[in-house]
Amino acid sequence: MVLAGAGCADRQALDANIALSGTVSSPDEGAMEGVVVILRKLNSTVLTAVTSDSVGHFQFNQDRVTEGDYEISVRAVGYELLGAKTIVIDEKQSQILGDLLLTSVTEPLRLASQLTSLDWVKSFPGTAVEKDLLVKNMVNCGFCHSLERIARSVYNAEGFEQVIQRMHTYETDHSSANRIQVVSKPKPIEGLIWYGRKASDIAEYLASINLSGGKLEWDYPLVTLPRPSGDGTNATVTVYPIPRQPSVIHDLDVDSKGNVWYGNTGWDFIGKLDPRTGRFSEWPAPNFLPEPTEGLMRIVGVQDIQVDETDTVWIAVMGNKHASFKPATEAWQTYDLPVIWKNPFLGPVRAGEGGLWATGITSMPDGPIRHEHAFRLDIKTGAVDEGIMLFDDKPFPTDPDRVGQLNYCYMMDQDAEGNFLCTAPEASSIARSDDKGNVRLVTTPTPNAYPRRGYRDDNNHFWFTEFFADKVGVINLDTDKIVEYPLGPRYISPYYARPDRTGKIWISSTGSDRLLRLDPETGKVVKYLMPVEYDARKVVVDNSADRITVWLPNKNQGQLIRVEVTN
Ligand code: HEC
Repeated sequence: MVLAGAGCADRQALDANIALSGTVSSPDEGAMEGVVVILRKLNSTVLTAVTSDSVGHFQFNQDRVTEGDYEISVRAVGYELLGAKTIVIDEKQSQILGDLLLTSVTEPLRLASQLTSLDWVKSFPGTAVEKDLLVKNMVNCGFCHSLERIARSVYNAEGFEQVIQRMHTYETDHSSANRIQVVSKPKPIEGLIWYGRKASDIAEYLASINLSGGKLEWDYPLVTLPRPSGDGTNATVTVYPIPRQPSVIHDLDVDSKGNVWYGNTGWDFIGKLDPRTGRFSEWPAPNFLPEPTEGLMRIVGVQDIQVDETDTVWIAVMGNKHASFKPATEAWQTYDLPVIWKNPFLGPVRAGEGGLWATGITSMPDGPIRHEHAFRLDIKTGAVDEGIMLFDDKPFPTDPDRVGQLNYCYMMDQDAEGNFLCTAPEASSIARSDDKGNVRLVTTPTPNAYPRRGYRDDNNHFWFTEFFADKVGVINLDTDKIVEYPLGPRYISPYYARPDRTGKIWISSTGSDRLLRLDPETGKVVKYLMPVEYDARKVVVDNSADRITVWLPNKNQGQLIRVEVTN
């Protein structure tokens, strides 16, 4: 046991908190740092995970692992734990497991199952232009499943065009590989476009990196990101699969008591997890979309969700309305928005600020020409204001001729004076309104950075991810100055940035199965590896908890993930 330096009395005090401890090693490396050790209670789906430190030591504390029979497993790319291991944890005594001995996995077809999508992108041969084609897209091929499916497939370029045609019929935010919502008819393959990129270009590249042409294994080495190290080994992670499966969970929020509220993006339900008891509850949610055309599904599911200071739950409903849910009465109230298409996100609701922003298209008179407005809903009175005109003549975002102009407001928020702002990905800018409704763009220092989602802190700084630039940006809303922080490595594709009470920034990264934490004072980025395949979406910090506690929706697996660190 490694409790070096602790005095005798301290050591006993520490031991009393420990449910299970041990070390991890392998013949090649000796003691191993950065191995994620995972416990699952038999007959339960909840996973609890910790990571081994620089001397290979790991420990589970009693407040996270209670008495019972557990199955133990590990996540360490290139290694596996031989044989199933079951252990009994006793409430009164801490268990010392001794050494978990890992053996290496080198055979490519087996190793392949351990790679993250980012590992695949790193491994694939190809030019930066080709890899950009695959990753740097509003919706990329890793958004509903791992890129492993693509790497293992045997399609040639023509076959891939048909696959892309099929993928294009699925609703992106409301589907995963497990929960499919077919919402459009297949478009002709001739000239098919995948979110602004030519499908034929993507198809040609993919056919060069998979197992087509009778290959038995990949003709390139499989490379992987390093395991976690240093502070990245210092987190306790709990994974709660929601009871309704398969499900899709895009966004969540935490109420004043620490309950987690999620929108089930695959079904018309919202749900709540009380982490103290592990109990889930769910309620049907309204959906105002009209009946679909024959043969297609009506899109179901709730995406963005926010809890206000009275613990009222707000959601962006399908079909151009917002809705609120009062847990005490279990009653819904809905609010009309004067739009013909609504952005699926909600502006954050903060104590004392009272407004809930929505953006949407207000008219589409001729083909793709759009008018977009931002409206504020007063959460006390339910009144919707007359709105701010964002732009009045721009076609849909992925038109390459329009890059650099505001043609889509993605994630919204407001400055300390209550004036609207949003990320404008294609314009690589933050769009800001003054109190007269005049909108201006503040452009990121890195061109084509693709600002995505983020959150304003208490110092009037708005933090946001730069999806294409692999950076986090912050705009000082008093001065309009933007500072950027590199996250590394390339293609870590940050999605959402959220400050915590210590001033550090939590960032979800798409495709890497990692959660990042940036210290803006030093620029240091800590990377925590999740115990499961993790599709990054919203990041929420629970400020009611003693420890720094972060909640993540795991979109494609229908799970809620809690990450706790001590400082
Ligand atoms: C909206 C969610 C979604 C996105 C985005 C998506 N897929 Fe899929 N993918 C699915 C679903 C659902 C399945 C399983 C059903 C199926 O095969 O159609 C699947 C399965 C696959 C498979 C395995 C099945 C087969 O036919 O071999 C491949 C390969 C694949 N996808 C490639 C891609 C590529 C390439 C892209 C990007 C152009 C992509 N996917 C983007 C949802 C998605």
